[in-house]
Parts: sequence; C-alpha cells; structure tokens
Amino acid sequence: MITRTEIADLLKKPTLNEDVTVMGWVRAWRSNRFIALNDGSTAGTLQIVVDDSAFPEETLKQIGFHASVGVTGTLVESQGKGQDYEIIAKELTVFGAADPNEYPLQPKRQTMEYLREQGQFRMRTNTFSSVFRLRHALAFAVNQYFHERGYYYLHTPIVTGNDAEGAGEMFRVTTLDPATPPLTEDGTVDFNEDFFGKATNLTVSGQLQAEIGALALGKVYTFGPTFRAENSNTSRHLAEFWMIEPEIAFADIDNNMDLAEDFLKYLINFCLYNYADDLEFLDQRIQQAEKQLPAAQRRPMPLVEMLRFVVENDFARITYTEAVDILRRSKPYKKGKFEFPVEWGVDLSAEHERYLVEKHFKKPVIVRDYPKTIKAFYMRVNDDDNTVAAMDILFPYIGEMVGGSQREERLDVLMQRMTDMDVHHDELDWYLQLRKFGGCPHAGFGLGFERMVQFITGMGNIRDVIPFPRAPRLADF
Ligand code: 4AD
Ligand code: MG
Repeated sequence: MITRTEIADLLKKPTLNEDVTVMGWVRAWRSNRFIALNDGSTAGTLQIVVDDSAFPEETLKQIGFHASVGVTGTLVESQGKGQDYEIIAKELTVFGAADPNEYPLQPKRQTMEYLREQGQFRMRTNTFSSVFRLRHALAFAVNQYFHERGYYYLHTPIVTGNDAEGAGEMFRVTTLDPATPPLTEDGTVDFNEDFFGKATNLTVSGQLQAEIGALALGKVYTFGPTFRAENSNTSRHLAEFWMIEPEIAFADIDNNMDLAEDFLKYLINFCLYNYADDLEFLDQRIQQAEKQLPAAQRRPMPLVEMLRFVVENDFARITYTEAVDILRRSKPYKKGKFEFPVEWGVDLSAEHERYLVEKHFKKPVIVRDYPKTIKAFYMRVNDDDNTVAAMDILFPYIGEMVGGSQREERLDVLMQRMTDMDVHHDELDWYLQLRKFGGCPHAGFGLGFERMVQFITGMGNIRDVIPFPRAPRLADF
C-alpha cells in the first residue's frame, strides 16, 4: 500500500516540522538542489530541497523535467523567496525517469500546436493542468447549479435516427460494409439491413429528447457529447464537443434568457471562488504572452478582471433587427470592412457578433427574435410571422456561446414549419405527438461547454480545452 499526502492538502494544512511523503512530477529542477513538485491536486508546486551529497549520483541523474518522484522529508518554512513551505528531502524515489534527451517536452515555453501533438504529455504542463482542473470545475458546477434548482439530469441518446438541428451535418453510424452495402431495388443503400434497421447517426443535440423529459418532469437538462461533421477548421469549432441543454416546461423566451444569464454567471463565479489559483496562473501566463503583441491585439481586460466584469454586469439584450441596425450604422460596415453582408434575413457572422460584443456593447449580448428562415424548425414563430423566439448569447472572444429558443408548441404551426423546412413528419412523429397530447409552452437552450471553458481559461483555441480534440483530419488518441 502506498501512503502519501497530496500537495493541495499539505499547503492547506501545513504540518510543520513533521515528516511527510509526497509524490508527483518534477516541474522544475534547479541547481541540482531544488525540485518544484506538482501532483495535480493544485496549481501550486511544492519545493523540495535536495542535499546532493546525501543521495547517490545515479538517483539524482534520473530527476528530470516531468520525471515522477516520491519524497519523504520534513516540512519546514521556506528560507527562500517564492514559496512559504518546502520539504527537506530525506528519502528520494524516482518512480519514472524522463530522459531529457528523449522526452518530447522541455521546461520552456512551447507552442500550443506542438503540445497538441504531444497529447499524452501536455496535461503535465502548468497551463494544461490548470485548464483541465477548470474544465472539471465547470462540469461539477453545471450539475450543482441544476441540482440545487430542482432540474433532473436526463441522459439523451448518442446514437439517434433524427437530425435535431436539421442542418444535415451528421456522422453516420453503421455496421454495413461500405464496400458492399446491401442495396434497395432503386439502387440506394438499404438501411433496413443495418444494425438498427434504419439510418442512424451520432447526435448533434439532445434537445428533442430533452423536450420529452421537460414535458413530464418539468425541468431537465442534458449534458453530453454531441457531434457535428461541419468542415469548420476554426478555433471555435470541434467535431466532438459537449453541450449542456436545459429544457423547461411552462416557460417562454424571457424565462429562458433569465435562466441562461443566471447560469453563465454562476459558472464563472464558481470558478472565481474555488479555483482562484488556476485562474491567477492563466491570467499571468496570458499577460506574459501578450507583452510581445501590439497593443491592439491584447485583451482589453486581463482574464480575471474580465470574468468579474461579466458577472457584475447585466447582459445587453437586443433583437436581431436592432442588431442589424447597429451593424449597418457601424464604422466597419460603412468603411466596407466586414467580409460578410449585413442584411435583414441573413445570419450574423462571427465578425458581426464580435463587433456587437467587443466594440459596441463591450459585454455579453443576448440577441433574440431572429428571422424564421435562418433558424431551426422547432423554434416558436412570433406574432409578426417573420421571426422566431430564438436567442443567442454572444461573448467576448468567443462569439456565440449559447443558442436557444422557446419551442413551437402549436401542432399546426409546427407541422407547417417542418413542411417549409423539409423536415419529414413521419420521422418525428413522436415529437409531433408531444404537441398533440399534453403540450405546453416550453423553452431551453444549449451551452457549448468547450466555449465556456475557453472563455474562463482564456485559451485561444478550442482544441486546447478538451483533452482529446476531434476536428477535420484530427482524431488522435
Ligand atoms: O446553437 P446550437 O446549434 O443549438 C442547438 O443545438 C440547440 N439544440 C440547443 C438547444 O436549444 N437546446 O448549439 C448550441 C451551442 C452553440 O451556441 C455553441 O456554443 C456550441 O453549442 N456549438 C459548438 N461548440 C463547439 N464546436 C462546434 N462545432 C459547435 N457547434 C455549436
Ligand atoms: Mg446556434
């Protein structure tokens, strides 16, 4: 049996002048005398003082960057600067050496692209271990938020027969041999012969099934992986990402917006209060990196200040029509600086969203009532018959963080919308039945989990906030 004290516990309750055993990975090894040890339990490292005359040369030689070691020694107040405590080593075990001539990582700043290729090791860096601790924190806070408010966690399927968003960007799930699939009489693939007896795909959203839950349990949420085969090689898109989707009965678009704003602020607050060390570390890291950038490319506010700012201020709330007006009156529009058109009826592009958030309002913005032609079939048609009760929440650096809506609960209107948007009624018969029997006004939204992790950690690329990113031509590990 192995007995050790975790560094987080030790720093919280330092048992001075007693012997302790700690185990972890070497984050730094200075002057053949000082080890900065981290065991993942906290952002902080513990300094180990090694008297090199007291240990065999053979052992000392094995202590390298990210080697794993165990140390038993006396915890004392540190004589040096930079840490309150240190351990004077009495026993030293190298569990796993990491030969610096061969180990792919080095104790210096390395590019995110390079670290991404070293996915088996990147979590040992200060940056990535902070990112993944915060990712955990957020996942925990999501469940805590909803649990405390009486929502039920509903596990919606990953393999499904329907396209919730109607965007057709799905990964097919099949056991048929692509070289010799069974064919129907008219020469198309016969999915009747497939594992599920029909064409299936990985889910793009758990919303439609969450609606079943909401219309029975009142308030539910799903939180699971979703998959989109959109060929977007951007710093905001993944092919596999996690989404949080609450769905509430007896609620309209205003309830939905209030819930989303409160929820996002709760998540940020949770991290500010409970993970201050990690946030502080990431904040410093970004500020260091930004020193090399021209002022215009730096963040308007350091990370932690920005997080505080977001929780302390109301989100701006505007309609899509107002957003288009603001954009058409904007300087970049007048100077022809936008790449994509700004026209009523056309979806906002990332550049427009970022202008609204970063330049015009300088805070998160909720845009509601989008043209019905550019939004999904399930969104409730407004009285003007041109717009739907949709809402997107736009964030600094990120753009679209949340997409949601009040759902169309009127059977005839929903059927008409499905016909207009080429969504087959028979494939979603169960969805229509929810309107036919015991339906009610209801609403919900989807939060892109990785985008939230990105905002909180300040990481520039979404591939660096999920342990093993999947994107076009990328499915390592
Ligand atoms: O706006 P979306 O497509 O909404 C839905 O899927 C609804 N069914 C949600 C609902 O009402 N229950 O996606 C929701 C959010 C987006 O706002 C964005 O944050 C994130 O999911 N998202 C992605 N994140 C990473 N990579 C991608 N490819 C993403 N696509 C959407
Ligand atoms: Mg959306």
